[in-house]
Amino acid sequence: MNNIPVIAIDGPAASGKGTVAKGLAKALGFHYLESGALYRLVAFVAQRESIDPNDAPALAQVASALQIRFIEDQIFLSGQEVAEQLRVESIGNLASQIAAHPALRRALLERQRAFRAAPGLSCDGRDMGTVVFPDAALKVFYTARVEVRAERRLKQLKQKGLDANLADLSRDLAERDARDAARATAPLAAAADALILDASDLRVDQALDVLMRWARERQIGVTTTAPARGN
Ligand code: CDP
Repeated sequence: MNNIPVIAIDGPAASGKGTVAKGLAKALGFHYLESGALYRLVAFVAQRESIDPNDAPALAQVASALQIRFIEDQIFLSGQEVAEQLRVESIGNLASQIAAHPALRRALLERQRAFRAAPGLSCDGRDMGTVVFPDAALKVFYTARVEVRAERRLKQLKQKGLDANLADLSRDLAERDARDAARATAPLAAAADALILDASDLRVDQALDVLMRWARERQIGVTTTAPARGN
C-alpha cells in the first residue's frame, strides 16, 4: 500500500492533458511524469538505430537501457538534450505504433512507478489510471473534439517553427486515436472510476479550476498536519 497520492490524467493525443497535468503538479508542489515522453524516447532511439518497429524484444531492450533525466522542460538522453526532437509528429506516430507491444510496455512499467514520490505525483498518458497507477487518488479522462486538438497541435508545432498543416494533422490524430484505442494491451480508455472532462470549449485556466476542485474534493495535496497553536 502506497499512500503517496497520484493524479492520473489520461486522454487522446493533443487534448492538452500534458499542460494541465503539469499545471496541477506546479499548483500542488507535486512531481510530474509525462509518460508519452518515454514512448517517444524509445521511438527516437529506434529510428536513430534503424530498429524494426515490429521487433518487440529489441524495443523492450532499448526501453530498459534508456538513460534519461528530466529537468524542468528538458529531457536528457544519455546526457544529450532531446526534448525538441521528441516533439515532431513522425516520432509521435512511431511512438504510437511501438506502444502496442506488451513487452515494451512492461519494460517501462516500473520506471514509471518510480516517479511516485512524496508529496505526490501528477502524470499524464493513456494508461496512467488503468494500468500504471490503478490506485490513483484522482483519475481523469481528459479529452477534446478532434478538430480542436488538431488546431492546438498546429499552433504548438508552428510556435516551435515546425512545418505542419491542419488536414494532415487531423488525419494523423484520428489514426493515432484509433490505433491507441484498438490495441489489445492498455488501450486508450477511461478507467471505470475516472471523471471525464471534455476541454474542447475550456481555456487552460478554466480546465485547471475544474481539476483543482476535484483534487480538493478528494483532499489531495491538503496537508494533514495540525496547524501550530499560538500560546
Ligand atoms: O502528446 P501526444 O498525446 O500526441 O502523445 P504522447 O502523450 O507524447 O504519446 C505518444 C504515443 O505514445 C501515444 O500515441 C501512445 O500510443 C503512446 N503512449 C502510450 O501508449 N501510453 C502512455 N502512457 C503514453 C503514451
